[in-house]
Amino acid sequence: MAYSDKVLDHYENPRNVGSFESGDDSIGTGMVGAPACGDVMKLQIKVNDNGVIEDARFKTYGCGSAIASSSLVTEWVKGKTLDQALAIKNADIAEELALPPVKIHCSILAEDAIKAAVADYKSKKA
Ligand code: FES
Ligand code: FES
Repeated sequence: MAYSDKVLDHYENPRNVGSFESGDDSIGTGMVGAPACGDVMKLQIKVNDNGVIEDARFKTYGCGSAIASSSLVTEWVKGKTLDQALAIKNADIAEELALPPVKIHCSILAEDAIKAAVADYKSKKA
C-alpha cells in the first residue's frame, strides 16, 4: 500500500521525537496501544503556567501511519490550551495525512494518546 506524501514526510523527518523527564509536574504522559496491531505510542506534553502546551514529544513503535500521526499531533498541540488539544479528532489527523481506511486506527491511537497525556497532566495537578 502506498503512503501519502505527508505520511512519508513525517515518517522520514519525524518532528519532536524523544521524551521529557516524566517526574516534572508540568509534563503529561500518555501511553496507548492498539490492540489490532500491537503498536504502541507514547506522547508527552509540556504545559506552562497559563495552561498552554508549549512543547511536545513522542515515541512510537509502529507503522508509518502511526509515526506520522503522532509526529503531526505533536506539531498541532503546540500553542494550544488543554481544551483545544482535547478537541483534536482522529478524523482531522486522518484527513490531513490522507490515511486509507485500514490505517484509521493509527490516527485514533494519536487522538487517544493526546487525551491520555492531558488526563495524566490534570491528575498530577489535582
Ligand atoms: Fe502495527 Fe502497523 S500494523 S505496524
Ligand atoms: Fe496499527 Fe498503524 S497503529 S497499523
